Amino acid sequence: MTAAPSHTTAPAGRPVAQAVGGLPADFRWGVATSAYQIEGAARADGRTPSIWDTFCRVPGAVAGGENGDTACDHYHRMPEDVAMIADLGVDTYRFSLAWPRIQPHGSGPANARGLAFYDRLVDTLLERGITPWVTLYHWDLPQELEDAGGWPHRDTAHRFADYAGLAHAALGDRVRHWTTLNEPWCSAWLGYFTGEHAPGRRDFGAAMHAVHHLLLGHGLAARRLREMAGTPGAPGTASAPGLELGITLNLGHGVPHTDSPADVAAARRADGMGTRLYLDPLVHGRYPEDVVADLADRGVRLPVRDGDLAAISAPLDVLGVNYYSSHRFSGTDEHGAETDADGRPVVRDVPHGLPRTAMGWEIVPEGLTALLLRLHRDYGLPTVITENGAAFDDRPAADGSVPDADRIAYLDQHIRAVAAARQAGADVRGYFAWSLMDNFEWAYGYAKRFGIVRVDYDTQRRTVKDSGHWYRDTIRATRGR
Ligand code: FCB
Repeated sequence: MTAAPSHTTAPAGRPVAQAVGGLPADFRWGVATSAYQIEGAARADGRTPSIWDTFCRVPGAVAGGENGDTACDHYHRMPEDVAMIADLGVDTYRFSLAWPRIQPHGSGPANARGLAFYDRLVDTLLERGITPWVTLYHWDLPQELEDAGGWPHRDTAHRFADYAGLAHAALGDRVRHWTTLNEPWCSAWLGYFTGEHAPGRRDFGAAMHAVHHLLLGHGLAARRLREMAGTPGAPGTASAPGLELGITLNLGHGVPHTDSPADVAAARRADGMGTRLYLDPLVHGRYPEDVVADLADRGVRLPVRDGDLAAISAPLDVLGVNYYSSHRFSGTDEHGAETDADGRPVVRDVPHGLPRTAMGWEIVPEGLTALLLRLHRDYGLPTVITENGAAFDDRPAADGSVPDADRIAYLDQHIRAVAAARQAGADVRGYFAWSLMDNFEWAYGYAKRFGIVRVDYDTQRRTVKDSGHWYRDTIRATRGR
């Protein structure tokens, strides 16, 4: 299983790629993007505004007042971008569909012109031998559905299942890998509680209702996709590629800062709100009792109806894990108080004191190993790392190259952390770098660059960074060819 380290040549100054021991030849390697972050063409071919188009117009909501109107102009440069993906030597491309392109009013019939783009994208990928991995929802809710109540409103879950059905009807003959939601925690918490993300609401109760309706939307969409793909969980027929169904969560490995009861309680709360609130219903068909009790203390009750949890816990083929950092939690503030100004228990992030990325996120690769082993133990699902990567302030060199040794080190450490988890027994099957190219980083606008390909936003020129070359060589060496 473990390939002998093989070395590939790299130009002077570029770190040399080596095979990563412990990853099998059929390990899945990919790059990831999402629709609003790269496509642009915000008004093309019948697309309507999403909550992000609206949010970007709110003064102060996005750094620099930026928006995704043009982004990387991928909508018009798709064939060149797919050629670039192929040159990176990956086998899988994870991208998302823009709901407001496919179903502009959030209900009703599909928009053929919007679907045509994804139809071409899928065909172009397949021609290049790249597996398409579709995310149905990466945060761009049609604005009309937000106006009708958004995710805190139960009907949105049903609308999502209908949209999933339209997407699968158009692409399901060629696409096997479907992810329902990307990071529902972000949609609910950042979108409806802290207001840092679209739609920018600040209502804790609404955010918790959003959690349940996102999960319900996942469950109803999963059921719809299974029905459309054939027998539940069964391999596809000769004419259809079958279905590999999953959901992607943003997860980290949280530990108490000390073993004091307050710190242990803080870590429990963080884990409850960030991990178990999603994975317990998805896998075990029940919400965690301690979180339900914490919510009751805040006067919030999840709007669960009969049958919801059965829908939410429909079998998953794969769990997508987006990993960026890990945290230590304290239950006291800097002055030792255990409650905040509102009388709520303190949950404070205590830095490890490790180097950080340009996002200010601490670099904790061993947290990824620990996380994957914990997921394996508590939930037992096959996993794929659907996002991992880092923003750094890259500067192009005089010779036109983009040296980004810090990103290479980040990717290298995390890929090795994945291999370590695999060797310790976690069933992790793939790794996708975030991101294929620099793009619109949500509330940070274009200031934060996560790409392994640089985008010059004035010219839309793409330049493969050193990390992109290194990634290609690492994949090749690890596969043993
Ligand atoms: C994740 C998002 C992705 C990107 C990375 C940096 O939370 O899924 O779109 O913004 O963070």
